[in-house]
Amino acid sequence: MDGFSRNVYLIGLMGAGKTTVGRALARRLRLPFLDSDHEIESRTGVPVRTIFELEGEAGFRMREANIIAELSQRDGVVLATGGGAVLDAGTRSVLRASGTVIYLRARPEDLYRRMRHDRDRPLLQTGDPLARLRELLDLRRPLYEATAHLTLDTGEQGVARLVNRIERELLPPEQPLDGNAPGSGADSAP
Ligand code: S3P
Repeated sequence: MDGFSRNVYLIGLMGAGKTTVGRALARRLRLPFLDSDHEIESRTGVPVRTIFELEGEAGFRMREANIIAELSQRDGVVLATGGGAVLDAGTRSVLRASGTVIYLRARPEDLYRRMRHDRDRPLLQTGDPLARLRELLDLRRPLYEATAHLTLDTGEQGVARLVNRIERELLPPEQPLDGNAPGSGADSAP
């Protein structure tokens, strides 16, 4: 798509598909794709879980808010944010003000199925990751909903369908070719 200059942000719980959908969407829109976790990892040179170990969640959140504030200054990028990015009020308003925010909604049970063997996400390294996902969703659901311009259920839909749907939402409605568009003057023609 040419001439699309606003940013597109993907938010939602970990495992919801923000990176996969974001990458495919960026390809479709011919925009650069960014991922806040990857950006933090490439700048610090260590994985997210090491930042959690060394600096705690608070240290990671500060880095996350800073990186998103910086990346959101760019024009025409697709950015997948970390699942907890919306915890920061400044991040919520930056995202809403500088682009279209899409919440990829998923059920904790589905996320658990996908991530039960995950060792990279520090918040899931507990005895009961499903309970943790439910807690995180309870806490974050209102924040995701308040930040999003558009919510999409990821459950049964594949990546291609989600990308089509998002593209339709982002593109301006097409002008009808028969000249009957509102304001075209077709009604008042003699
Ligand atoms: C987190 C989600 C992760 C990563 C970190 C914390 C969260 O990103 O930022 O492990 O708080 O939900 P993904 O949502 O990309 O997995």
